[in-house]
Amino acid sequence: VSLQPFNTFGLDTKAKSYCNITTEAALIEVLKTKGNEPIFILGGGSNMLLTKNIEALVLHINLKGIEVTNETDDAVFVKAMAGENWHQFVLWCIEHNYGGIENLSLIPGNVGTSPIQNIGAYGVELKDVFESCEAINVNSLDTRTFTKEDCKFDYRESVFKQDLKGEYIITSVTFKLSKQNHQLRTDYGAIKQELQTSNIVKPTIKDVSNAVIAIRQSKLPDPKEIGNSGSFFKNPVVTIEVFNNLQTNFPDVPSYKVSDTLVKVPAGWLIEQAGFKGKRFNDYGVHQKQALVLVNYGNAKGSDIYELAQLIQKTIKRIFNISIETEVNII
Ligand code: EPU
Repeated sequence: VSLQPFNTFGLDTKAKSYCNITTEAALIEVLKTKGNEPIFILGGGSNMLLTKNIEALVLHINLKGIEVTNETDDAVFVKAMAGENWHQFVLWCIEHNYGGIENLSLIPGNVGTSPIQNIGAYGVELKDVFESCEAINVNSLDTRTFTKEDCKFDYRESVFKQDLKGEYIITSVTFKLSKQNHQLRTDYGAIKQELQTSNIVKPTIKDVSNAVIAIRQSKLPDPKEIGNSGSFFKNPVVTIEVFNNLQTNFPDVPSYKVSDTLVKVPAGWLIEQAGFKGKRFNDYGVHQKQALVLVNYGNAKGSDIYELAQLIQKTIKRIFNISIETEVNII
């Protein structure tokens, strides 16, 4: 089975076998009867670079459904099944005037994989609205509810990428959203600018969502047109000492303060300075408008893109003496 339609890089990788999972009962049944066959969990396919064929049973998690599970005067608890498309879920919340995830508009992928890397953009992270998630243990088949603390969220990190990697399949996520008095986060420069340009003084959650959509569309490639996985690398976090050294040599380097001793440096800036922005090699390359995004223009191989990623990492290390890690999972 070709996984090309199921990964946003559009890579033509083959899976040994494939199963579309639409109910939790079916998921448990497959896990019970698969024997020793290794499994590979596929969600929205938006955060993986497939460099080789998958010698496993691919379980494509397509559980659907959105429901309100509880309400208070100000808040609403919404449970979404893992296979719901993330952006469609954001739009559903905006339609119902539930606030909190409007800044996360247009992020590719599904609800079920959003906690794994604690998706984030424009000043908001998933953990800010996360209430709990349910997951099935692939060995014991027990269902477990994870609280926010259990998930150990950090910048593009969670327990599901660390200690519990490969052990659980997330089946649903419950969010705590606002019903009124929405706390809008519009301080991110580009959002402010976008709202100003549209002459919006008292923005609604829909206005913020529209602003984010406009910003993303202006610099991030649409996976339906050009294969990609969003930011390919994480922004490196360095000590103040390392940063001060860097700033001495490169006075224009942008940065965000993480703590009193740590600073985050945009990897996109480092990659652009290293001369990679917009570089194209045959059918793959670095996006023209955002150097943090690697792209497949058509028939690239995952291994080609992986080699380019390694070249970028080596070059950044040589020029700036900074290591950048991939955000995307390399398979
Ligand atoms: N920059 C450059 N050249 C580039 C790209 C960026 O110089 O080619 C500079 C910009 O001028 C700016 C800084 O780098 O000063 C930051 O750029 P931007 O605001 O575009 O954000 P980012 O740090 O590149 C992160 C997230 C994005 C998220 C944006 C907005 C990571 C790895 N990426 O990107 O997330 O949308 O902030 O909040 O943290 C994703 O994870 O897939 C993703 C798109």
